Amino acid sequence: MSTPIAALDIGTTKTCALIGEVTDAGALRILGAGVTSSRGVRKGVITDVKEASQAIAAAVEQAERVSGVPMAEVYVGIAGAHIQSTNSRGVAAIHSGRGVTPDDIDRAMEAAEAIAVPQNREIIHAIPRGYTLDGQDGVKDPVGMIGFRLEVEAHVVTGAAASIQNVIKAVEGAGLKVIDLVLEPIAAGEAALTSAEKEMGVALADIGGGTTDIAIFIDGSIWHTVVLPTGGIHITNDLAVGLRAPFNAAEEIKIQYGHASPLQIPEDEFIDVAAFGDEGRRTVARREVAEIISARVDEICQMILTEIKRSGYDNLLPAGVVLCGGTAELKGIKSFAREVLQMPVRIGPPRDLEGFTDRVSLPAFATTVGLVEWGWKQREAEGASATPRGATPRKPNPIGGLFSWAKSAFLPG
Ligand SMILES: Nc1ncnc2c1ncn2[C@@H]1O[C@H](COP(=O)(O)OP(=O)(O)OP(=O)(O)O)[C@@H](O)[C@H]1O
Ligand SMILES: [Mg+2]
Repeated sequence: MSTPIAALDIGTTKTCALIGEVTDAGALRILGAGVTSSRGVRKGVITDVKEASQAIAAAVEQAERVSGVPMAEVYVGIAGAHIQSTNSRGVAAIHSGRGVTPDDIDRAMEAAEAIAVPQNREIIHAIPRGYTLDGQDGVKDPVGMIGFRLEVEAHVVTGAAASIQNVIKAVEGAGLKVIDLVLEPIAAGEAALTSAEKEMGVALADIGGGTTDIAIFIDGSIWHTVVLPTGGIHITNDLAVGLRAPFNAAEEIKIQYGHASPLQIPEDEFIDVAAFGDEGRRTVARREVAEIISARVDEICQMILTEIKRSGYDNLLPAGVVLCGGTAELKGIKSFAREVLQMPVRIGPPRDLEGFTDRVSLPAFATTVGLVEWGWKQREAEGASATPRGATPRKPNPIGGLFSWAKSAFLPG
């Protein structure tokens, strides 16, 4: 059995700590999870480090208690509208006569990373998508192959330095060390998608509380990522306004009676709503609730569609769209999204888990589970590489002691 891997997902609504281990059979066994309401987080970004730290400490304590495993070092998710991503290309000349070495890949990646990163931004990921050797493209692992000119296509993700540092500070404030920051939709893709989907071409949309995160995988690699600042909280807010009810009452109605398609709800179905002030309780048509929800779900689906089109890869996604995040649990969202997106849609809870899975097998935990899986892959990549990338950064590190380059993280398998 391997050493346990720990992760932290600091979402807009929930903070989740998770500890897992890789079994001898190569599966992920969940040892323990801790979930608390987030504090000090808005639209995926930490706005109050101290409050966020307190929520983290509470989640960690729960996970430690359940698993009996202390958490010291963690993989941590990052999101927020400050995230930007781009694809870039790097070239390295190969010494004649010998095969491509990991060092040559390093040089090509360095060139790809040398995109202009402004003062106030830092690189979170530089992930190789594929290689071209002497004009031959589609090379997945060039090490050992003979050639003269190696080109790498990399997906580079950057974030605002201040937001990145606040995540690190909040985690350190809870007494933990950050091993690596991982873009949340990339992590969610690890847990919710199959290798076959990533090979064929698929878009993952994590519709959480404060953000909708999108990641597009093609040919087994990550091609496009974006974080949009709208999520389930907006649906609840619309309901609170529309029904003149407190936020918590609106949230409860959404989860219990909510539906994405009003026409699926019989006209004569009524529910009881706790209203503000003297009004006490009121009855409301469930279809009206669905109408309010539907308008916002439509906006979110349109945003996803626009983003997929903007990426330019909309014709390369035969596996369609996989939805995760808490809002993917909304009744009727799958067929609604299929209608808007005109693509196959499925709901993607984390896959292939063993152990204490009851708490984390919902779509809302795809990111959290994916963070542990990312850690697992990174460990494997470092084990397989002659020069462990995570251990010896080759230049002043962009994110204070972290280095988040995972060589084989998105190769198939
Ligand atoms: N059954 C349900 N029906 C509708 N919405 C739901 C359901 N269950 C959870 N949600 C919504 O999911 C949202 C929380 O999702 P999630 O836990 O993925 O968010 P988060 O990770 O905290 O936030 P983010 O990723 O946006 O920063 C909330 O808005 C919640 O109301
Ligand atoms: Mg989330």
